[in-house]
Amino acid sequence: MRIDVFTLVPHVFAAVSEQRPLATVLGGQLDLRLFNYRDWTPLAGGQVDDEPYGGGSGMVLRVDVVAAALEGVYGGSAEHRVIALTPQGRQLDQGVVEELAEEEHLTLLSARFEGFDERILVHLANDAISIGPYVLSGGELPAMVLLDAVARRLPGALSEGSAEEESFSTELEGGFEYPHYTRPAEFRGWTVPDVLVSGDHARIADWRRDQSRERTPS
Ligand SMILES: C[S@@+](CC[C@H](N)C(=O)[O-])C[C@H]1O[C@@H](n2cnc3c(N)ncnc32)[C@H](O)[C@@H]1O
Repeated sequence: MRIDVFTLVPHVFAAVSEQRPLATVLGGQLDLRLFNYRDWTPLAGGQVDDEPYGGGSGMVLRVDVVAAALEGVYGGSAEHRVIALTPQGRQLDQGVVEELAEEEHLTLLSARFEGFDERILVHLANDAISIGPYVLSGGELPAMVLLDAVARRLPGALSEGSAEEESFSTELEGGFEYPHYTRPAEFRGWTVPDVLVSGDHARIADWRRDQSRERTPS
């Protein structure tokens, strides 16, 4: 899978690309490319944004700059999925993550300040995703969230089995994962449920399924 990220601050992506699971799949299952709008801008002085028509504070990412960047990288209009990261997009959840993990090629467009010129969303992107109903200062954290969530669905990203039974998985009927415990078996009088140290795998599986159902909001 190839993921291209367009941003004004490519260096911040080291925070996720140097860590697992991204680091594990990079160069293998995942080809991650970072592009700085400033490297493609046709405007003088590396300009990428401008004042909003109609007035108001903040700067808006220019449509001609994003078009030049996409054309420069793809040699024409992009045929694959181009996602604008915006608080006004459809909300990211595990279903959307699974859908994106099936794609061969994704482009993520991030903005800063006031956001995108609307024509970028209408004419250059073909999808828009929000990571939640709140406003962040830029699209880089949303892009990293999406990258991490998609990367861990790629083959080889995680140790075998660790992503099968986890929150929102079909194995757990889309619900929350059951609780985990590790040593010590008792700490300050706080004990581990007996069933987990019973060695009875069928009872453990039943207990875990019940716990998952109990803690999942209906
Ligand atoms: C300060 S925000 C712009 C918010 C925009 N003026 C609005 O009110 O909808 C700057 C950029 O951060 C990114 N961003 C902020 N919050 C986001 C979220 N919840 N999900 C995805 N991207 C977000 C987007 O790329 C956005 O264009």
